[in-house]
Amino acid sequence: MSLFRTKAINADTEAHHGLHRVLGATDLVFMGIGAIIGAGIFVLTGQAAIQAGPAIVVSFAISGLACAFSALSYAELAAAIGGCGSAYGYAYAGLGEFVAWIIGWDLILEYGVATAAVSIGWSGYVNSALAAVGMPLPASLLNGPIDGGIINLPAVLIILVLGLLLAAGVRTSARFNAAMVFVKLLAIGVFIAVAAFHVHPENWHPFFARGWTGMMHGAALIFFAYIGFDAVSTAAEETRNPRRDLPIGIIVSLAVCTAIYMAVAGLLTGIVPFRTLTGASPVADAMLHIGQRWVAAVISAGAIAGLTTVMLVLYYGLTRIFLAMSRDGLLPPVFSAVHARRGTPVRVILASGVFMAAVAGFTPIGDVAELVNIGTLAAFVMVCTGVIVLRRTRPDLPRPFRTPWSPLLPLLGIAFCLYLMFSLPLVTWLRFVIWMALGLTVYFSYSRQHSALAVET
Ligand code: ALA
Repeated sequence: MSLFRTKAINADTEAHHGLHRVLGATDLVFMGIGAIIGAGIFVLTGQAAIQAGPAIVVSFAISGLACAFSALSYAELAAAIGGCGSAYGYAYAGLGEFVAWIIGWDLILEYGVATAAVSIGWSGYVNSALAAVGMPLPASLLNGPIDGGIINLPAVLIILVLGLLLAAGVRTSARFNAAMVFVKLLAIGVFIAVAAFHVHPENWHPFFARGWTGMMHGAALIFFAYIGFDAVSTAAEETRNPRRDLPIGIIVSLAVCTAIYMAVAGLLTGIVPFRTLTGASPVADAMLHIGQRWVAAVISAGAIAGLTTVMLVLYYGLTRIFLAMSRDGLLPPVFSAVHARRGTPVRVILASGVFMAAVAGFTPIGDVAELVNIGTLAAFVMVCTGVIVLRRTRPDLPRPFRTPWSPLLPLLGIAFCLYLMFSLPLVTWLRFVIWMALGLTVYFSYSRQHSALAVET
């Protein structure tokens, strides 16, 4: 039965592990928006619009709904159970060690691959900005050896710089994040204000140009745009009033971003025919298309800020998951040290940063970005399941936030997420299976024996 051994609920909330409790609800909302708005809207919207046609707006709504159901489940468990391990920790308390390991392994995939993949997009945007002032980098410093270059240098540098920022302290990181979020929201605001006057409604006809299948493929792809609100829950041990503030941070950031996404997607396909959105910077390109050069420049600045905050918050989430898994003995104890003065897990920040920088610098990680979607969707399915199971097994547990209409909404969350998972290409599934097989190997060869619960018994 040891596969299903569970950890005491609230063990991490009550113990003091050296992280500093300095964040409030506003910080969390900004962290959520920081993690959400990025490559999805600034890079992938064009590709998704080509798959879905103008119905990309509905694709955004479908993915947004899958996230909304999951976010409500996250909010319940984050407030009731807490802990910086997020879904991994909730599963450990409710569903047992083996399921917890699987979710933890999924979250490492989600945050680690997303950070490295987004750094590639960041590098592209920064190089375009350098090219605009006549100083483009040579191709050999923008591509790894597999793509005929030497190293993707900007991608490596940004990850290492963000690692130093995260190591400096969570308050410093949150302030930097808020400033960058402000820049990206301003850029999106300018886009909406300008685009609203350049819509040609004929571009929206036929609305369902790619049919149901195209729209669902678009939804599965654009799901990436929503990823990150869940990272807010990894801040549980650094939040002053987690039981109140975590649900606010998760739900408000997701709601704000969903509204922004639908507005941007609708306007984008209204100002230019969706078939023209083929470039890597579709939002800025659309502005160039209608002759708005300065707006395009503002959007590029917003995109660079946006991609930066996405990496920052997801990288932050990754380190907190590692920390939680290491404290529980499932990963080596060297990762659970927290710096006494800074209150940050410096070792894990630097080790994971160097690893992600190497992956971003030398491999074509951008090509496997859709792995992030499948890993996240799998974690969301488990979180929704966790709400249903814990309502039965622990009805007495104090729940400061309750998912409305449970089990209906968590069941809808499971259904939507599974549907999106099955709308992803076969090759993504194969890669996911390989990743999970690797995870099972680590679990059975190391984690199971070293688990703190195994040592106790
Ligand atoms: N949601 C994040 C982005 O779109 C991962 O970049």
